[in-house]
Amino acid sequence: MKKRFYIKTYGCQMNFYDSTKIQDLLKPLGYKLSKEPEYCDVAILNTCHIREKASEKMYSDIGRLSKYKKNKKLAGEDMIIAICGCVAQAEGNEIIKRNENVDIVLGPHNYHKLPSILSTRLTRPVIKNEFNGMKKFNSFPKPSFSGVTAFVSIQEGCDKFCTFCVVPYTRGAEYSRNVLDIATEVKKLVSMGVREITLLGQNVNAYNGKFDFQNSERTYSLAKLCSFLSEIKGLDRIRYITSHPADMTDELILEHKSNTKLMPYLHLPIQSGSNKILKEMNRRYTKEIYLKIVQKLRSRTPNIALTSDFIVGFPGESKSDFDDTMDIVKTVKFAGSYSFKYSPRPGTTAFLKKFDLDDKIINERLNILQKELNFQQKQFNEKCIGLNMEVLVEKYGKKKNQYVGRSEYLQPVHIISDDNLIGKIVKVKIKSLTSFSLHGTLS
Ligand code: SAH
Ligand code: SF4
Ligand code: F3S
Repeated sequence: MKKRFYIKTYGCQMNFYDSTKIQDLLKPLGYKLSKEPEYCDVAILNTCHIREKASEKMYSDIGRLSKYKKNKKLAGEDMIIAICGCVAQAEGNEIIKRNENVDIVLGPHNYHKLPSILSTRLTRPVIKNEFNGMKKFNSFPKPSFSGVTAFVSIQEGCDKFCTFCVVPYTRGAEYSRNVLDIATEVKKLVSMGVREITLLGQNVNAYNGKFDFQNSERTYSLAKLCSFLSEIKGLDRIRYITSHPADMTDELILEHKSNTKLMPYLHLPIQSGSNKILKEMNRRYTKEIYLKIVQKLRSRTPNIALTSDFIVGFPGESKSDFDDTMDIVKTVKFAGSYSFKYSPRPGTTAFLKKFDLDDKIINERLNILQKELNFQQKQFNEKCIGLNMEVLVEKYGKKKNQYVGRSEYLQPVHIISDDNLIGKIVKVKIKSLTSFSLHGTLS
């Protein structure tokens, strides 16, 4: 019988991309993916450290897996528990100290070591958390994924050191893959039916990759990479995430205008609208600079949809700092956004700041912000009613003959059709809305 493995992924798209690669590493070893952790031979948690809740969730999941492991042991079998990802990198040995049932701890640059670790008899826990982005990407197998859209990691790590953020510590220094390796992966995906790719990086617009190894002097920016990839026949849509405002160059802004395959959508986290807080966060831009970027983007690509991330309750955030955030939200008008309560993370510089804001006040501010962001998202969606939108159809919907795709602005769009639309880009006349989705008919 085939051995079985279970994998649960937390956190950002890069972690989800890594999890597909972990699956591709295990399948040739005779492992089959299982949705039930109870009966598997290897259970993997690919973890996130970004906020306290995310890492606490991991510990409760380890507790659950430990019970299954004990049950398997009673039946004379074993279960290997492997903790991967950003908590593995940040906490290493601590994880094993907190739960002796964990067998393997692997930081985000070490997944490729999994096959060799699993092929040996484990007599004591194995911890690997060296940083080597090049080795990681070069050791990943060719993609086996099939679908209409796919993620491709092009850059990993971050050199920005925002004072609240763990990423520079969990993912290491910025590393950009070379252009030809990325193009090879994209071409392979396209040959398997993928029509849209999302280029991933913790700081994706800081991408600065060599063209290849032989010609190592020649480097490409993200704008140049998008332009290069857009020449791939059969690839129809390109997106990228997550960008930092300080790396939003004029070249990239212009690429949105000139490259028809680059979608008119940009996630550009601002975090706060207060210059005082932005400085304390070490974000390297002011609200004026952010607004200038928005103005440049909109003057060249008037229909571009903008989304953002916000942190509420950063140490020292006064009522007037929060008002500045609300002002910028009302000025920019976002098509959707994520907002979080500040979570103090050990090891970051903000962790040492006095953090004495009343939780009630933070919750109130978060509520006010989220209400406005939801309202703006609804307004953005309402403006789409009556439009003929291009939709890339990804999958079947829940209802009979229903299909679900994404608009250029990444909105989910539901369509009823007798023909199979999966993998097609169709024109859809938008008729109505339900919470965050659009509904329409083929036009
Ligand atoms: N590189 C991206 C963000 C990556 S982390 C950028 O620079 O914008 C994703 C989001 O998590 C961040 O945008 C931020 O809003 C949130 N986040 C990160 N650390 C946090 C913390 N300590 N507390 C609350 N939210 C946090
Ligand atoms: Fe974290 Fe800042 Fe880097 Fe984004 S840019 S990953 S928030 S340190
Ligand atoms: Fe979380 Fe690591 Fe991504 S901390 S958000 S999984 S980079």
